[in-house]
Amino acid sequence: MKNYTILAIETSCDEVAAAVYNTEKKLLAHRLYSQTEHHKQFGGVVPEIASRSHMVKINGIIEEAMTASGCTLEDIDIIAVTSKPGLLGSLLIGISFAKAIAGSCNKKLVAVDHLEGHAFSACIENDIPFPFLCMTASGGHTSLYRVTDYGKFETLGTTMDDAAGEAFDKVAKMLKLGYPGGPIIEKLAGEVNFEDFFDYPRNKMNNLMFSFSGLKTAVLYDLVKKDAYSMEEKSLLTEDMNLKKQVASSFLNCVADIFVGKITRALQEQSDYKAIAFVGGVACNTFIRNQIQQRVANKYRIPLFFPSPEFCTDNAAMIAFVGHYKAQREEFSPLDFEVY
Ligand code: KG4
Ligand code: ZN
Repeated sequence: MKNYTILAIETSCDEVAAAVYNTEKKLLAHRLYSQTEHHKQFGGVVPEIASRSHMVKINGIIEEAMTASGCTLEDIDIIAVTSKPGLLGSLLIGISFAKAIAGSCNKKLVAVDHLEGHAFSACIENDIPFPFLCMTASGGHTSLYRVTDYGKFETLGTTMDDAAGEAFDKVAKMLKLGYPGGPIIEKLAGEVNFEDFFDYPRNKMNNLMFSFSGLKTAVLYDLVKKDAYSMEEKSLLTEDMNLKKQVASSFLNCVADIFVGKITRALQEQSDYKAIAFVGGVACNTFIRNQIQQRVANKYRIPLFFPSPEFCTDNAAMIAFVGHYKAQREEFSPLDFEVY
C-alpha cells in the first residue's frame, strides 16, 4: 500500500466540510460548518443560500482542518472531493476549490460519490467484514446496499418518494416543531416513552423498496380528522404539546418498523451477510438503532455497526476514506470530471 496524505472536501448540501487522512495514521482531522441556523426559518435547505454560504466558509474550514492535522499543503498528495449527487451550486463550490488546488499545486484528484461515502462511513472507525448489508437513511437518500468490498456495492432497494430524513423534517414542519426534524421528533417521542398511539400505516410493499410519502400523508390527514390542522390555511391549529408528542412517537415507531422490516427481509433473501451497517443522518436516532439491534441484529446474531454521530450526518471524513481506497487503486479523476 502506498503512503498517501489526502485532503477531502465535501459541500454537496448544507454542510461545508474538510478532512485530512493518512494511510498509516488514518483520520488526522476533520472540520465542518453546518448551516442549519441559516435554513431553520425556511423549514428546509434553500439551495442558493447553501452555495453562497459555502463560498464564504470553505477557505476557513479547510485551513482549520489542515492546521488541526499538522499538515501543510506540501504534505498533501491527493485532493478528494464529493462530485455527486447533491445541490449543483453547493457541489460546484467544493469542486472548484478542489480543482484549483489540484491544478495549481500539481496534486492528484479523486472524485467521490457522496452515497459511496455514506455507505462506507461506518468503516472509518470499524473493521466491518464483507459482505455487509448497509442501510443508508439521510435527508436526501434512503437505500439498502449489498456491500461486497471497498467500492463494490449493489443497490437492493431505494425510496420511491421521500427520503426518511426528509419525512422527519416534513412531519416536524407540519407539527410546527422546527428544523431539522429528526432530533426534535426523537426528543418529544421520548417524553411519552416511545409509545405507539396512532398505528400509522406500515409500508406493505413486497420488496426492498421504501416509501415515506404515504406515512406523511397519513399523519397529515389524521391531524385534519382531529381538527388540529387546516388544509386551507396549511397550518397547525393547535399548540397541544401532548398531541404533538403522541404524533411524533407514533411516527417514529412507524419509521423504525419500516427499517426493521426491510432489513429483515434483505437478510432473509441473502443469508451470507456478516454484518449490518446503519448510516446517514437518521442513524443518529437512538430509538431506531436500538430497535434494529434488538429486533434484527440480536435475533439473527449478526453484528450491527453505526458510525459516531459526527460521521452519520454529512462529513468529509467519509469522503477521505473512500478517496483513500480509490487512490490506492489509482482511480484518479481528470480535471473535467462529471458533476450532477
Ligand atoms: O446525512 P444528512 O446530513 O443528510 C443528507 O446527506 O441528506 O442527514 C440529515 C437528516 C435530516 O433529515 C435530519 O432530520 C435527520 O438526518 N436526522 C435525524 C436525527 N438526526 C438527524 N433523523 C432522525 N433522528 C435523529 N436523531
Ligand atoms: Zn449525505
